[in-house]
Amino acid sequence: MINLKTNYLGLELKNPIIVGSCGLTNSVENIEEIARNGAGAVVLKSLFEEQINIQVAKAMGASRQSQLHAESEDYVTYFEKMHLVEEYLKLVKNTKERVDIPVIASINCHTNSEWVEFAGRIEKAGADALELNIFMLPSNPNSKEVALEESYLEIIRSVREHVSIPLSLKIGYYFDNLARALRTFSRADIEGLVLFNRFYSPDIDIYKLTPKAGSAYSTSEEIHISLRWIAIASDFVECDLCASTGIHNGEGVVKQLLAGAKAVQMVSAIYKHKPIRISESLDFLNNWMKKHKFTSIESFRGKVSRQQLKDPVVFERVQYLRYMSEVTGK
Ligand SMILES: Cc1cc2nc3c(=O)[nH]c(=O)nc-3n(C[C@H](O)[C@H](O)[C@H](O)COP(=O)(O)O)c2cc1C
Repeated sequence: MINLKTNYLGLELKNPIIVGSCGLTNSVENIEEIARNGAGAVVLKSLFEEQINIQVAKAMGASRQSQLHAESEDYVTYFEKMHLVEEYLKLVKNTKERVDIPVIASINCHTNSEWVEFAGRIEKAGADALELNIFMLPSNPNSKEVALEESYLEIIRSVREHVSIPLSLKIGYYFDNLARALRTFSRADIEGLVLFNRFYSPDIDIYKLTPKAGSAYSTSEEIHISLRWIAIASDFVECDLCASTGIHNGEGVVKQLLAGAKAVQMVSAIYKHKPIRISESLDFLNNWMKKHKFTSIESFRGKVSRQQLKDPVVFERVQYLRYMSEVTGK
C-alpha cells in the first residue's frame, strides 16, 4: 500500500504537492478546484506589507504612504481598488471552511514595520501556517551581505512575536554565500524554507529600445537551480525544505523529493495545464513509487541529495567539461 503523506512545517499533508502562491489561489472557488484535483496544501496569494501599512495608515487617518516598494506598486494600486485587507482575512477564513487541506497564508514583505502585528490576525482567521515571501535584491555594490541576512532575520523575529503557527521563508538565490544564508535562516525561528521564488524577469524590446516584462511563467528547464540547492542544502539546513520553480510534472516532483525536499510547490504548470496537472503528477508519483517498491515518501526522500552521493561534487559542478569533450570529441 503506497502512502504519499508527508510532514511539512509540522503539518500532515496527504501528499507533497502544494499549489504555490499566485493569482489562482486568490479565490475560494479556484482553491476548491485545486483541492478537488488532489493538492496536499495551498499557499494563498500574497498580501503585500505595503497594503497592510496603507490600511494601518488609513485607520489612523494618515494620508497614503508614498514610498512603495518598486515591485509592489502596480499590485498594491490594483489591490487597493479591488480588495481590502479584511478581504484577505475573509479569504483565509472561507478557504478554511471550504477545503480540508492545509491553508498557508502568504505575506510579501521587506521590512519589519507596522504590518507585522497583522500576522496575528491571519493566525486568528485560521491559517495553518504563514509563508513570508521576502525578496531584497542586493543590487547596491556598497551594501554588506551580512546586513542583508540580518534584515531577513529581523523580520522573522518580529513576525514570530505575533504568531505561533508555523512559519516558512520563501526566498530568491541572490546571496553572496547562499549556503551560509540558508543555514542561518534555517536556524532562525522558522519551520521551513521555500527554494526559490521566481521573480519578475525584465527583458528588453530590441525594436522599441525599451524595457519589457519577460514571461510570468517558468519552463520545466528552470527546475535545475532549485534542484541543485535542495540537494545541497538538505545536507545542513535545520528545517524543512520545499522546492519551488520549474516543477511542471510528476518527474519534477520525484526529482525534488529525491533531492531532499519534503514538499514541492507548483504554479506555472497549473496555469498552463489546469489543476488536473496535480492529479496527473500524483499518478506519476504513485506509479513511480510502485515500480521502485517505495511505500512511503520518507523511504526515498533525499536518496539523491548531496550527502547521499558517492560523488557529491555532482551538485557543485558548474562546468560541462565532460559533456563538452563527449559531444565535441575534444
Ligand atoms: C501570476 C503569478 C502570480 C504570483 N504571485 C505570487 C505571490 O503573490 N506571492 C508569491 O510568493 N509568489 C507569487 N508567484 C510566484 C510563484 O509562487 C512561484 O514561486 C513561481 O511562479 C515559481 O514557481 P513555478 O515555476 O511553479 O511557476 C506568482 C507567480 C505567478 C506566475
